[in-house]
Amino acid sequence: MTITTCIFDAYGTLFDVAAAARQAAAEPGRENLAESWPALAEHWRLKQLQYSWLRAVTGAHDSFWTVTQDGLDWALEKTDLDGDPELRERLLALYWELQCYPEVPKMLHALKEAGKATAILSNGSPDMLDGAVRSAGIADVLDDVLSVESVGVFKPHATVYDLVEKRFGCDRSHVLFVSSNGWDAAAATGYGFTTAWVNRAGDPVDRLPWTPDHVLADLAGITDLAAG
Ligand code: LAC
Repeated sequence: MTITTCIFDAYGTLFDVAAAARQAAAEPGRENLAESWPALAEHWRLKQLQYSWLRAVTGAHDSFWTVTQDGLDWALEKTDLDGDPELRERLLALYWELQCYPEVPKMLHALKEAGKATAILSNGSPDMLDGAVRSAGIADVLDDVLSVESVGVFKPHATVYDLVEKRFGCDRSHVLFVSSNGWDAAAATGYGFTTAWVNRAGDPVDRLPWTPDHVLADLAGITDLAAG
């Protein structure tokens, strides 16, 4: 099937969500994070996602910025770091300027050169995504940044994936959807996109009714996949 449109999840896929805790731990005066930052980053991410799913199934939507802060508060308490409000503020500030993975700019340029439409489709709120896209310097190689805020429910609700056909006017069978989240790639397969799961950690495949069409270790192979 010809791929015309390449759609990317944002957090964890293009942007390194562990970078905020890792970077904070490297700053002067934060030696207490040297050992705990990986656990802090993992708890933060997991709670952020759990809260997004729970809000989606209960209809209690709020912005991804809210669930990001709620997840961080849980993670700080879990790792006994909740007595440091300055650390909380620093981590949240760093989340607005996350590093992208090193192969991202080259890959997006190659897709544009190959004539593909490119966009982000993310739980992130528009202002968060704008900050991350600007700080990564990839605005000029993305045709659009689509946020769930326009439909008021988080992924993997099908209404979110509908945004792609609405924006690009393409049939879902011509879309390559790329995510580092196994659950997101799986649900997008069920929706009808061709999917690539970027499995940097070598994790097991999620036990869901659908499986990703392709599994890659990083984003370097996306250009070839999109070429068919
Ligand atoms: C996103 C989260 C799920 O960017 O990573 O949508």
